[in-house]
Amino acid sequence: MSWKDCSTGLRSFISECSFRPDVGGELASMILCTEFKGLPLVVYVAMLPEFRNRGYARFLLKKVLDAAQRLGYGEVSLVVTDGNDAAIKAYRDVGFKAETGI
Ligand SMILES: CC(C)(COP(=O)(O)OP(=O)(O)OC[C@H]1O[C@@H](n2cnc3c(N)ncnc32)[C@H](O)[C@@H]1OP(=O)(O)O)[C@@H](O)C(=O)NCCC(=O)NCCS
Repeated sequence: MSWKDCSTGLRSFISECSFRPDVGGELASMILCTEFKGLPLVVYVAMLPEFRNRGYARFLLKKVLDAAQRLGYGEVSLVVTDGNDAAIKAYRDVGFKAETGI
């Protein structure tokens, strides 16, 4: 697979499915979602360390899933590295199912 193949079908961010909430005027986290081959793909999920483990990622992921559903998408996907247990737990908790491989 070439990089050209990877970028085929990649669109700009879906604004309704991307969030960058502030806390006290400071950027606290970011979730960015693009469209890949006709389906939403969450490409970036990050929470500042001081805001972690309070359920914020799950809250934002649910907003992504709700927005995707409102837009008519039947499925949302993302990629996570083995061993990123906090992320895997958050993703499973909101309903993502694991598939292995690329
Ligand atoms: C992954 C990340 C976005 C999660 O954000 P968050 O707001 O802390 O997530 P949530 O609080 O919604 O859920 C995290 C859950 O994992 C749990 N958790 C934290 N560390 C864990 C670990 N090492 N093993 C297992 N579970 C863990 C938390 O306790 C929480 O579950 P609980 O509330 O039932 O106890 C955040 O840790 C982060 O920004 N990490 C660095 C960037 C990153 O890895 N992004 C994901 C790339 S795919």
